[in-house]
Amino acid sequence: MFKIGIIGGTGYTGAELLRILANHPQAEVTIISSRAECGKSVAEIYPNLRGSYNLSFSVPTVDELALCDLVFFATPHGVAMNQAPELLARGVKVIDLGADFRIKDTDEWAKWYGMQHSALAEVSEAVYGLPEINREKIRQARLVANPGCYPTAAQLGLIPLITNNIIDPSDLIIDAKSGVSGAGRGANVPMLLCESSENFKSYGVAGHRHLPEIVQGLEQHTSAKIGLTFVPHLVPMIRGMQATMYGTILDKTVDIQALFEDYYKDEFFVDVMPEGSLPETRSVKGANFCRISVFRPQDGNKVVVLSVIDNLAKGASTQAIQNMNIMLGLEEALGLTALGMMP
Ligand SMILES: NC(=O)c1ccc[n+]([C@@H]2O[C@H](COP(=O)([O-])OP(=O)(O)OC[C@H]3O[C@@H](n4cnc5c(N)ncnc54)[C@H](OP(=O)(O)O)[C@@H]3O)[C@@H](O)[C@H]2O)c1
Repeated sequence: MFKIGIIGGTGYTGAELLRILANHPQAEVTIISSRAECGKSVAEIYPNLRGSYNLSFSVPTVDELALCDLVFFATPHGVAMNQAPELLARGVKVIDLGADFRIKDTDEWAKWYGMQHSALAEVSEAVYGLPEINREKIRQARLVANPGCYPTAAQLGLIPLITNNIIDPSDLIIDAKSGVSGAGRGANVPMLLCESSENFKSYGVAGHRHLPEIVQGLEQHTSAKIGLTFVPHLVPMIRGMQATMYGTILDKTVDIQALFEDYYKDEFFVDVMPEGSLPETRSVKGANFCRISVFRPQDGNKVVVLSVIDNLAKGASTQAIQNMNIMLGLEEALGLTALGMMP
């Protein structure tokens, strides 16, 4: 059994890590942190976990965390960069669900995240944890930067087209929608039921923090400059995310459906749906799957890619466990084969 620690155990991604790891045959959560709920049992905060954990929230010391094989940071940005280096030095593997190690250009990171980076060497070392793209590097990694939710849905939908030069990389549009849990559990007026229910709105139109992450990810697959317009929206549901993506086709002779099916033919967690079908967020609710479908409306020069994930699952915690499995030399899908919940 591998010993697992979680920093930030009361947040939504921390709770989702706990839910999935409760049934993982090779991982045992031994430390779960919270400053606000220190001393309370896990079941007191998350009754769905009653009977699965005999564990209380604590504020662990580095010595206590150093007894873990792997520690997840399910914390806001700025936390992991201050604590991960010491754990790495003590031989602990680290997965950060936050943004501290995702962006290689730390000046760019500082611009978007409003603080100076404090762990420059670790940023260079970190492997971006999109397993379908970086599996072999993740296998060797001590430190994995788990991707953001929008960047996961977006990159899985666009990389097959970018890498095969099917679309113009300088003219991409991502129109994306997220459920409210994407904003986390902290009290925040716009996320209250009365504010977000029966409402639909865009945000971050002038610039969202996931934009540089998506651009950096796509740039790995082309020598051309990426031109991206990214507009996220908030939809009144708890979980789920869809990225609807538009690209201008360069080569109209290519069978795009066949290209996607071939690109992901060995990927268990990416489901390329049959031609003409529409992926639904509820089909991946609570599951580590990404469902994709592709269209070329009216046989025109635009391709439309629809990509759905659960923001808390493939967009965060189950993808982090997929990375954990790879880093620990376990079977990649171990503990992750649960299907989406419908209705
Ligand atoms: N929500 C999503 O859909 C989603 C998807 C992908 C990635 N992410 C990323 O994952 C991370 C966690 O997101 P979340 O939605 O789970 O957040 P959240 O619900 O706001 O929870 C944050 C957790 O971090 C702890 N925490 C806050 N400040 C801390 C500090 N300085 N030191 C130690 N612990 C601290 C909090 O507990 P205490 O304050 O009690 O210690 C809480 O347990 C974020 O970086 C977020 O951007 C979220």
